[in-house]
Amino acid sequence: MEMGRINSLISTCALLWLILVLENVSIVYGNAEGDALYAFKKQLRDPNNVLQSWDPTLVNPCMWYHVTCNLDNSVTRIDLGSANLTGQLVSQLGQLRNLQYLELYNNNISGKIPQHLGNLTSLVSLDLFRNKLEGHIPKTLGKLQKLRNLDLSNNNLRGYVPNNGSFSLFTPISFANNPKLILPVVVPLPPAPAPAPAPLNS
Ligand SMILES: *[C@@H]1O[C@H](CO)[C@@H](O)[C@H](O)[C@H]1NC(C)=O
Ligand SMILES: *[C@@H]1O[C@H](CO)[C@@H](O)[C@H](O)[C@H]1NC(C)=O
Ligand SMILES: *[C@@H]1O[C@H](CO)[C@@H](O)[C@H](O)[C@H]1NC(C)=O
Repeated sequence: MEMGRINSLISTCALLWLILVLENVSIVYGNAEGDALYAFKKQLRDPNNVLQSWDPTLVNPCMWYHVTCNLDNSVTRIDLGSANLTGQLVSQLGQLRNLQYLELYNNNISGKIPQHLGNLTSLVSLDLFRNKLEGHIPKTLGKLQKLRNLDLSNNNLRGYVPNNGSFSLFTPISFANNPKLILPVVVPLPPAPAPAPAPLNS
């Protein structure tokens, strides 16, 4: 074979190889996060069609409205506050390992907060206020070391607010208006004992 044909054969093979590699990367990486978000969408009622663009056949969810990705096409934000959504949170949301902002305030979301949200180690802000969430606040959220904004107010949560890890950063404002929720009682220090009377001089 002449040199030119060999060269073009080699570049064709290289191109095919590259396409295969890129396709595998997007299947393994992109779709896992898209699948997780689609699992959330599937059980939501969305009368205003804000999730219409959430098409699971796309390579990744980065073109979907209300979803933001980083340069590696990994999801960093979900912005669905005041979207009139009814349904529940799903454990699959815990798979979005680069998620920094989960904004779902002022919807009609019921059921429990999944323990799996404790796997969202990049999370900075978790805004679930003004929904119908029930059950206990999972202790796993204390693992979220980057969490700086937690707002679970105006729900129907119950039981004790955990006090491990990141929970030490949050004030009662984060938990307000959950009538069945019990906040940790700040125990006042006992009064200092009265000084012992000075010994009488003898
Ligand atoms: C929310 O959805 C309900 C139907 O489930 C509809 O009646 C209502 O008008 C919607 N509210 C807003 C603010 O879009
Ligand atoms: C809110 O969710 C409940 C079910 O949890 C449903 O019965 C009710 O119709 C929903 N409200 C709106 C405004 O969609
Ligand atoms: C996520 O968290 C849950 C419960 O907290 C745990 O059972 C699960 O193994 C975790 N998944 C990953 C991938 O870390």
